[in-house]
Amino acid sequence: MKIENLFPTPLMRVENVLSDAMMNSLQQRIVKSPKVSNTQSQLLTHTEPLSAKEIDKLIDLKEALNPYLRDFGFLIFGEYLEWSIKEMWMNISKKGGHQLIHSHANSFISAIIYLSDIHPSARTIFHRGMGGNEFVFTNKHQDSSTTPYNADRWVPDEIKRGDLILFPSYMLHAVPPNEGGQRITIAFNALPNRLKSWDYEVRFTEKS
Ligand SMILES: [Fe+2]
Repeated sequence: MKIENLFPTPLMRVENVLSDAMMNSLQQRIVKSPKVSNTQSQLLTHTEPLSAKEIDKLIDLKEALNPYLRDFGFLIFGEYLEWSIKEMWMNISKKGGHQLIHSHANSFISAIIYLSDIHPSARTIFHRGMGGNEFVFTNKHQDSSTTPYNADRWVPDEIKRGDLILFPSYMLHAVPPNEGGQRITIAFNALPNRLKSWDYEVRFTEKS
């Protein structure tokens, strides 16, 4: 008997992706950007995103992240493409801060770099897409089990400072209310240099 695991969705986790020095300098650089409160939670603030041009100056960061973007990009597009980070911003959550379910538009790979250890209550939750080719009836109750085929969501078992998570930008995700201390993350969106479909291709370039 064999079960074929059809059409899975990749999510990449990397521990200690950046050195402490790199995380500190990145935090100091981004924290200078103007801040805006989240529309749903005053306990969560975001910085205005750094532009691609500003990110280009962070040479060490690009060198550290590019191999993972290339490998993850291969999984979703079947080719080792050149990737660039299009925008990057910081999220700072106090106790009680949360983020509603959302996905990232105009991007193919999205990512979170965790700059603090994350309290178990505030681990990022990744959700299965809503709607689509699913049974309308479910079988969820106290005696039913969760399998990869009926799960609605997935939560990492532990998240520490320095962890990186890459995921397809369409994937829904959220952060439940943070019952721990200050939670700091950097998020970014990445684009490949081009996508090609036989005789046609689209190119993604920075506005000059
Ligand atoms: Fe997000």
